[in-house]
Amino acid sequence: MKVMTLRAAMCSAALALAAPAMASDADVEALKAEAAGLMKEFGDTLRGELVAAMQAGGPVNAISVCNEEAPVIAASISDASGWDVGRSSHRLRNPLNAPDAFTAAAIDDFVAREAAGEAVDSLVSAGIVEEDGERVFHMVKAIPTGEPCVACHGGDNVKEEVVAALAEMYPEDTARGFSPGQMRGVFTLSKVLD
Ligand code: HEC
Repeated sequence: MKVMTLRAAMCSAALALAAPAMASDADVEALKAEAAGLMKEFGDTLRGELVAAMQAGGPVNAISVCNEEAPVIAASISDASGWDVGRSSHRLRNPLNAPDAFTAAAIDDFVAREAAGEAVDSLVSAGIVEEDGERVFHMVKAIPTGEPCVACHGGDNVKEEVVAALAEMYPEDTARGFSPGQMRGVFTLSKVLD
């Protein structure tokens, strides 16, 4: 933890001295590696809780994991790491997960590359952009639809009681009709550098 903080501090000091919108390849690689670790932690925790809740009480019970636990898990990882961690999609269930500009551009690119036959789990985009006078590092990674996901994001295989619960909570839901392997959405990570 101490080492990470020190490295983060050294990174931002080094970046502040560097040319305005540039960071060295080594800095960007270090940020990417840190972001990839946090994404894995977020994904693994979420998936673990989801599968456990589905086994314990079926998909209607597990909706609360996605609805309530996902933001809690994201917030706790964000607080502990100083990164902003979340999820988004080209077909949103919750409009509050709408993408920022960097993420929206990455999602468009991923949708085109998926259509062109690229493997979903290889789609990653990272970069530094200026937002409101601050330089912000962003990383976005595609999430493939897995077998457990179709219980709530699939097509006709979604149970009636799940359809009803989702319709009540998410009247604008567009996150249905996915098959395993298709891109369901993305993990988003960002960090203000200075
Ligand atoms: C038990 C039902 C359920 C299952 C199973 C499920 N989800 Fe979801 N998913 C939801 C709900 C509910 C939301 C809305 C969460 C919110 O309000 O932020 C959601 C939101 C999302 C989002 C955020 C973007 C958006 O559309 O709002 C992503 C990405 C996502 N799910 C991916 C997955 C993946 C990948 C799996 C399989 C590993 C999965 N989900 C399994 C119910 C489910």
